[in-house]
Amino acid sequence: MAEALPGPRMRPHVKAHKCTALAGWQADAGHRTFTCATVREMVGMAAAGLGDDLLLANEVLDCRPLGALDDARVTVAVDSLETIAAAADGGVREVLVDVNVGLPRCGCDPDDAGRIADEARRRGLEVRGVMGYEGHVVGLEDRDERVRQVEEAMAQLVRAHEDVGGDVVSAGGTGTYDINRWATEIQAGSYALMDTAYGKLQLPFRQALFLWSTVISTSPGWAVADAGLKSLGMDHGNPTLDGGKVWFCSDEHITFAPEPGREVKVGDRVRVVPAHVDPTVAYHEVMHLVRGDEVIDTWPVDLRGW
Ligand SMILES: Cc1ncc(COP(=O)(O)O)c(C=O)c1O
Repeated sequence: MAEALPGPRMRPHVKAHKCTALAGWQADAGHRTFTCATVREMVGMAAAGLGDDLLLANEVLDCRPLGALDDARVTVAVDSLETIAAAADGGVREVLVDVNVGLPRCGCDPDDAGRIADEARRRGLEVRGVMGYEGHVVGLEDRDERVRQVEEAMAQLVRAHEDVGGDVVSAGGTGTYDINRWATEIQAGSYALMDTAYGKLQLPFRQALFLWSTVISTSPGWAVADAGLKSLGMDHGNPTLDGGKVWFCSDEHITFAPEPGREVKVGDRVRVVPAHVDPTVAYHEVMHLVRGDEVIDTWPVDLRGW
């Protein structure tokens, strides 16, 4: 990614990995600007010395922990009078106007962006520009469709930017990192670890995140591994499992059918590939770095929580 989008062209989103050690690797690869989704991520990144330019690409109503960070540059997304007031009252100095570009989530109507910016300036905030996350597009498997819909989404962001001003147009994700040519910076996160949903898009990023689980029970025709809904983000569907077909996940169990001819014993380790990286990582306290079978380091998932 650092070759495709060097330095500040890429503002890595830490929400996917929630790990300052991995963010440190991204910094070593030349990225000093980061995107966060929670106050906790912002505070943790600043404490880790990675606070050169942190964007909270999300709306929050208590910005005081951010205003108290004097060793970091903090920018917060705003899309309403309430979030502007929260930023100003909380001691935040810089904001981006968050624009709805088609994902029904946060972001103001593009037609309101200029008004939001005026209000932010009236409250003494520096408006650095706009952001608009095309989250409804990033995961589309058909690349032509992604190309078409990114253009549509970014036309709205560009229009809003004309009314807002500032240098920053922040958007994009892993699925659109090489398609979104309107944004001045791309907020991708999943690329660092990947998941099976993004694996379908034929992007040049390999799966790095796996769950090592242990077979705890076998029956004729199926086996059960000790991972499940409490260790996997499931909103993108079932995980996949090396050497077997997943039937279903329950709280602490994955029931799977071993590949024909494969004998599975209690105590065997099976490698599970998550379907959605962000919520999966958020369930775990540490990630182990492995080379082959050797654990070469253990990284705390230290940006968990709110
Ligand atoms: C605001 C925002 N920007 C960017 C991203 C990019 O993420 P990804 O790399 O998973 O496409 C996300 C993901 O959820 C997001 O919420």
